[in-house]
Amino acid sequence: MASGAVKKTAKAQAQPESSDAENVLEQPDVLPKKRPDAGEGRVKTGVPGLDELIGGGFEKGSTVVVMGSAGCGKTTMLSQFLYNGAVEYGEAGVMISFEEQPDAILRHMKGYGFDFAALEKQGLFSTVSYRPHEVKKLVDEGGGLILDTISSIGAKRLAVDSLTSYALLFETQYQAREAEITLFELLQKWKCTTLMSAEWLGEGKKSGAGSVEYLADGVIIMHHPRHKSLRYRAIEILKMRGAKQSEKLCPFELIDGFGVKIYPNEEIFYKLKEKD
Ligand SMILES: Nc1ncnc2c1ncn2[C@@H]1O[C@H](COP(=O)(O)OP(=O)(O)O)[C@@H](O)[C@H]1O
Ligand SMILES: [Mg+2]
Repeated sequence: MASGAVKKTAKAQAQPESSDAENVLEQPDVLPKKRPDAGEGRVKTGVPGLDELIGGGFEKGSTVVVMGSAGCGKTTMLSQFLYNGAVEYGEAGVMISFEEQPDAILRHMKGYGFDFAALEKQGLFSTVSYRPHEVKKLVDEGGGLILDTISSIGAKRLAVDSLTSYALLFETQYQAREAEITLFELLQKWKCTTLMSAEWLGEGKKSGAGSVEYLADGVIIMHHPRHKSLRYRAIEILKMRGAKQSEKLCPFELIDGFGVKIYPNEEIFYKLKEKD
């Protein structure tokens, strides 16, 4: 294990005949309920409404970036991708954090009903976090700690929160750009399907992360614009490899006890609302 970096390994591997019957009885709701189509074709996102917009899900092993301003719902979507991925499709996932401590993230995500502690007990979830001074080690060592964690639970899904925080940990823009490329190369090597967040300041405005659009296999934008006295939430698929993507901006909600819900058959009409 890379010294200094924080690692939380699953306490127990998922086993069909667990001797710890108490755990199983305590968390009946999060036991994986595998659907018949799990593992076939594209990777289901676990975010209601999203698969319909991207040809059925993410391409297996691809890296998709979800961009947006602070508070637009990026961490929520990342968490939902991992949580529902485990609960609905039986796929283990790892959350890699470069900003908030994972404990804080997971506490906030509990409001959406994502019980990561229970998943961790079943060996379906784990976290890795890097503090600012440790991040160079990730690049130098080729992410050994992350790979160990992926192997320890057989993870199929990764969430990286966020690329912007990661890039900002490097001194020069050149180093940050190099490090971004290294991270994307590592993610490709690890073969998990990855959802990564990045700050997006608006059309044509530069964020800490470089030209993510070119490195990623897919780009999703979570818009949160204000119009008159109201803010709207809308999702846009900017790019999605191997899929015919929707060109529409679709509304979505952040729902307590649930997470992100996208309405793929609805469109945003400011004008209609204006007349109200
Ligand atoms: N339990 C909840 N139910 C509904 N909305 C929530 C809940 N918890 C947080 N939120 C909303 O989610 C937003 C933050 O989402 P988050 O995914 O952390 O955004 P980001 O990572 O893009 O900054 C907050 O603006 C808050 O309004
Ligand atoms: Mg966040």
